[in-house]
Amino acid sequence: MAPDPVNIYEYEAIAKERLDHGDYDFIAGAATDEITLHRTRQVLDSIVMKPRMMVDVSQRDLSTTVLGQKINMPVMLAPAGNHGAAHIDAELASAKAAGDFGTVMVLSSHSAKTLEDVAEAATGPIWFQQYFFKDKELTLGMAARAEAAGYSALCLTLDAKIVPKRERNIRNNYVGPESPNYAALELGTHSWTFAADAPAGPADIRDQATTWDDLEWLAGETKLPIVVKGIMTGEDARRSAESGAKAVIVSNHGTRYLDTTFTTIEVLPEVVEQVDGKAEVYMDGGVRRGADIFKALALGARSVLIGRPLFWGLAVNGEAGVSSVLTMLRDELDATMGICGRTTIDSIDLDTLGGISPLQQLFDRRDAGR
Ligand SMILES: Cc1cc2nc3c(=O)[nH]c(=O)nc-3n(C[C@H](O)[C@H](O)[C@H](O)COP(=O)(O)O)c2cc1C
Repeated sequence: MAPDPVNIYEYEAIAKERLDHGDYDFIAGAATDEITLHRTRQVLDSIVMKPRMMVDVSQRDLSTTVLGQKINMPVMLAPAGNHGAAHIDAELASAKAAGDFGTVMVLSSHSAKTLEDVAEAATGPIWFQQYFFKDKELTLGMAARAEAAGYSALCLTLDAKIVPKRERNIRNNYVGPESPNYAALELGTHSWTFAADAPAGPADIRDQATTWDDLEWLAGETKLPIVVKGIMTGEDARRSAESGAKAVIVSNHGTRYLDTTFTTIEVLPEVVEQVDGKAEVYMDGGVRRGADIFKALALGARSVLIGRPLFWGLAVNGEAGVSSVLTMLRDELDATMGICGRTTIDSIDLDTLGGISPLQQLFDRRDAGR
């Protein structure tokens, strides 16, 4: 028997062996050449931390709040379609794992279980992710369903208007299932050629015409706080906050829509600066280590979210696998904080990081003086 995984990469390796090849590629894959997918890890790994000594770190508290809700560590489950690709219990398992751990799960509207069934199974705060649909009644209707079921925030994904090119899915002829959340609707013919979480082409129900006015409209219609997802520039983040969003998620959708963008950690500081405290800022993309969470927090994120790792946990061991993934991240973050002399989430600041090698800085100073 294979030894238990000791980190998220090892979870992925075991999940890869167990999953159907097409499902694995659907989860792991990204747009076109997957260049930014790889660069995401390179950039995160290239940021260095500065350990600090002789600080009393005997008591450490990893809890924080998101939209006023307490979470036990600054990691949430990102909205991701069809957890059923990884485990039969699908989102029922992941929602329980998140709730029992003490964090938020954001449910994708492309879930394998209905949003009502997931709400029933959930043991903690849950948020609902959806899109702007061409049919405004549908946009409001989904939001109302989520509110009635007990979801406490509405996450609007803004970066998924256009069908992306995911070559692994094309090669595999991958066709994801339709979500039961849409079962009651008259949707016409769908072709899910590229991926289950991608819009389905001309016949699709998502609205490609939306502008900031639509966000302002929805913020005025729903009682739920709005979190926007897919923000990659400071300007769009500022416009989101001005249009009524209470939080923005810096995200490039795990690089599943557009290749050769910046990585999310690179644009995070610009977003934080332009939002200027008017909305909370979260980040996702490539978070695989406690150190990654620490770096995102030091650069101004209030919390991060994880996408693919939750599938690896689910595929290997269902609910317990997701719990284990969350626990690993917590333990790694806890150790990182302690070694860097930080005991609370709020105390993680820019002083704990160093991006360019001190030797490079020395040479730059020397060259500037010449
Ligand atoms: C299999 C899969 C399905 C996804 N489905 C959705 C979705 O339905 N809605 C959405 O907003 N984001 C979706 N995402 C993107 C995630 O919310 C998140 O932005 C991304 O996975 C973060 O990067 P990471 O996987 O490196 O953690 C999906 C991601 C994956 C891997």
